[in-house]
Amino acid sequence: MSYEITEVHALEVLDSRARPTLEVSVRLSSGAMASAGVPSGASTGTREAVELRDGDPERFNGAGVTKAASNVNGEVNRLLAGRQWPSLAEVDRALVELDGTANKSRLGANAIVGTSMAAARAMAMADGQPLYRWLAPQGAELRLPVPHFNVVNGGAHAQNDLEFQEFMLAPIGLPSFHEALRAGAEVYQALRGLLHARKHSTGLGDEGGFAPNLGSPEEVLDLLVEAISKAGYSPGRQGVAIALDPAASEMREPDGTYRYSPGRRFSSDEMVARYETLVADYPIWSIEDGLAEDDWEGWESLTARLGGRVQLVGDDLFVTNPSIIRQGIERKVANSALIKLNQIGTVTETLEAIAICNSAGYSQMVSHRSGETPDSFIADLSVAVGCGQLKTGAPARGERVAKYNRLLAIEAELPGAPYGLPGQG
Ligand code: PGA
Ligand code: ZN
Repeated sequence: MSYEITEVHALEVLDSRARPTLEVSVRLSSGAMASAGVPSGASTGTREAVELRDGDPERFNGAGVTKAASNVNGEVNRLLAGRQWPSLAEVDRALVELDGTANKSRLGANAIVGTSMAAARAMAMADGQPLYRWLAPQGAELRLPVPHFNVVNGGAHAQNDLEFQEFMLAPIGLPSFHEALRAGAEVYQALRGLLHARKHSTGLGDEGGFAPNLGSPEEVLDLLVEAISKAGYSPGRQGVAIALDPAASEMREPDGTYRYSPGRRFSSDEMVARYETLVADYPIWSIEDGLAEDDWEGWESLTARLGGRVQLVGDDLFVTNPSIIRQGIERKVANSALIKLNQIGTVTETLEAIAICNSAGYSQMVSHRSGETPDSFIADLSVAVGCGQLKTGAPARGERVAKYNRLLAIEAELPGAPYGLPGQG
């Protein structure tokens, strides 16, 4: 079986932050036609594949993507259209070669990942398979993921004093995806009630979580535990646990210290000690980017001291890059990787990053970006690879809910498929 691509086309559209992004469509000779919306981060890792922006200050403050769109409509279309492609891997390899840079900066990682995602969708359609089944690597078990709901936003995603970027609810202990989604929604509503009653703002941050002007992580964690209980769930791994993404690269000062909360700065060592305290005091099961992307010594110590008790996820640290993940495994840094398609730039390389994690016993969490479209590719991806974890924002705002709702549809199509962390059920 091979796939004949007849056209690749990109359009400049808007993302959830009123910034331009690409919608890429791929048409096959079979008549199959599919599109993909390209996500975009705010707290990006320095080693991510590079999205191409126009830089024209007259349009969208320089953030336009007409050059990336032209690259798709020109070079990429000329490369892919009118040829038979045996697999998505061949398409992705050709895209990487055509770009010719190590970080996809010539054509733009946005142009490349949109093409790769749309091609995957069109090929799945041509084969008459749902995307989650078509993407599944050989031997992988289709599994509904634990949704990680980012219900309090700080850092680069909000205009408040919170240094930690994300406070997430993780309904690990619930029996099914739909019950986990319901728990997320009910706790979110309970949290809104608590914030309102205490005269905190219930305004939202970029990922749909509340962005109250609270000062310290501890204040937020107290509120979360209270909201979980108020909604009738038990805080912890038997019910609704908590996951953090401090996104510590953004908290780092030039002198190497970290801004922890207003007026408080910690060394790398002190940060590790602080996480030990937080993990002892609160039902935290996972910490992502607890230290900065260039603080590998700190990460070694963080992993040695906490890696046996909590999941330590590398996001800016690994940027979904197979070779950086390999270095992490060698240096015993982190025990899990965040998986973002646009950090590495093709579906094939994303699957490779996941395979490397699996071979070393590192868990994975599939992830959205803070700038999103209603595209729900990552919902299918999370089920296909069976990693058991997805984070895609609050259970609110259309571009976040689109992914969770897609998982409800997949769950309904797969009666009996397991839910939760691998090995759990
Ligand atoms: P970003 O944030 O999409 O702005 O990078 C998400 C994250 O840090 O996990
Ligand atoms: Zn992150």
